[in-house]
Amino acid sequence: MTDAGSKRRPLVSGNWKMNFDHLQAIHAARDLGLRVQPADAGPVDISVHPPFTDLRSVQSVIEGEGLPIALGAQNCAVEDSGAFTGEVSAAMLAKLHVEYVIVGHSERRQLFGESDEVVAAKLKAVLRNGMTPIFCVGETVDEREVGLTRDRLASQVEHGLGAVPQGAVATMVIAYEPVWAIGTGQPATPEDAQEACSWIREVVARSVGADPAGQVRIQYGGSVNADNTEPLLRCADVDGVLVGGASLDAAAFVGIVRAAAIATR
Ligand code: PGA
Repeated sequence: MTDAGSKRRPLVSGNWKMNFDHLQAIHAARDLGLRVQPADAGPVDISVHPPFTDLRSVQSVIEGEGLPIALGAQNCAVEDSGAFTGEVSAAMLAKLHVEYVIVGHSERRQLFGESDEVVAAKLKAVLRNGMTPIFCVGETVDEREVGLTRDRLASQVEHGLGAVPQGAVATMVIAYEPVWAIGTGQPATPEDAQEACSWIREVVARSVGADPAGQVRIQYGGSVNADNTEPLLRCADVDGVLVGGASLDAAAFVGIVRAAAIATR
């Protein structure tokens, strides 16, 4: 839908999921800091998304050592404060200098019953508190097999975008994460990723207009590694990657960042 010449700045995000206590997280962030070279970080935005209990520690490492890495979170509450036992609000995350918040990851949707309505409310909470949502969408294998991929993606994207101020859409990140590719070692092919990301951009254009659709960044996620990153990022509508398993290994994650930087040349 867009030509490579007008591509957006790539965002490489590491979702640590429920891994690393705060001591391990400090170690992981330092390890990453030692390995990321200016040539890698120059053309690429990088974020890491530790568990809530690690955020303050990782923030200290990033800020204390001046690392070219943005702090991210994996989830947030719908409300900013109140009687919601066990929840962590977007307002609290913003105070820790969190810049990106993953919203609507398929694990949240499938294991914790997050509906499109809850996901939409979380998108609003993230934007209201001045951060950037990484809004995850993706079809299951069953939906794919019966030809429902486009419908599913359109419905998820429309639900989310319908809830947020139109002017904010251009600043958001959408992550296309086919559920069948997450943690399976079976990534989508670049062709499939491009087709889905181009479709998502078309849905954004239909919902809020061509300009924001041309600016919104769309990541691919699902079994990303250092070998498949460059071909994925050479696709016209793929503007980054959301990485799970491979982000737990600093060397592997930096390999992905480097491949993303190479794809910009
Ligand atoms: P994976 O996870 O890289 O381990 O497949 C991706 C994700 O869940 O975002």
